[in-house]
Amino acid sequence: MKVFITRKIPNEGINYLKNNGYELDIYPHDKPIPKSILLKKIKDVDAIITLLTDQIDKDVISRMDKCKIIANYAVGYNNIDVKFANEKNIVVTNTPDVLTDATADLAMTLVLTCGRRVIEGEKLIREGKFTGWKPDLLLGIELKNKTFGILGAGRIGCATALRASAFGAKIIYYSRNKNDFLNKKLNAKKVSLNFLLKKSDIISVHLPLTDKTFHLLNSDNLSLVKPSAIIINTARGEIIDENALINLLKHKKIFAAGLDVFENEPNINKKLLKLKNVVLLPHLGSATLDTRNNMALLAAKNVHRVLNGKKALTRVKM
Ligand code: GLV
Ligand code: GLV
Repeated sequence: MKVFITRKIPNEGINYLKNNGYELDIYPHDKPIPKSILLKKIKDVDAIITLLTDQIDKDVISRMDKCKIIANYAVGYNNIDVKFANEKNIVVTNTPDVLTDATADLAMTLVLTCGRRVIEGEKLIREGKFTGWKPDLLLGIELKNKTFGILGAGRIGCATALRASAFGAKIIYYSRNKNDFLNKKLNAKKVSLNFLLKKSDIISVHLPLTDKTFHLLNSDNLSLVKPSAIIINTARGEIIDENALINLLKHKKIFAAGLDVFENEPNINKKLLKLKNVVLLPHLGSATLDTRNNMALLAAKNVHRVLNGKKALTRVKM
């Protein structure tokens, strides 16, 4: 059976499929596959492994004549029209769990980098401007006794809360459902979105991108945020109205922001580049060797199971 992979993924996944006898076709270039080529490739494949940079829309899905599974090499699946795929009896899978800790680690990396002004400090040294220890040099924000607001109590939100709690922060969270782990283990409180924005010293976004979360943070509710607060986004850029956030940063209405994702990725709003109080990373949430290997293996296993009539390990539920 034939599996198309839209870009080279780690060998763990490739070898698993090869060893199980699949014929692999991998887009060979180190860039996202152009839609025109994708449309030609998918016609007669039995499975496809996609990346979050591939738009798997109705157009693409309609051309899949034999495909049984779209295995997304990501936990987020806003790049796929899951409903339409399911209507065509195509299973969609993602890679949850295996990237939870790596992503939570990166969220904390951004919290600490913003809070302790790591980039400004590093830059000062490299520019030869460090003239010695100073009582007021680059004073930042620590986590002890601060209120840490988690948007979205999924796996990554909980893993980030656990880390923040270990640093001495109090946790509050915004989520549809009450979360037992957060409530019982971390003594956290479920609160409304506006309450969270008003009270939090750190706000960290861990929601999926959907119609309901698009611009969930916007110029209206961002005005509630404390001037001493830090906003972190390791989820999807579109959840925050980027222009509204830029306005806050520009007028020092928040302390800092740490962004791993952007509204028009990979195009970065030029205004962000001019600001000192923002830390910018190129979508590195799951970017560790272990995690990327595990994501590749999980995507490959999902393909193998579905093509053998078994239940996928991590099917996206609609
Ligand atoms: C990364 O953003 C992912 O969704 O896995
Ligand atoms: C993703 O894995 C999440 O549930 O946060």
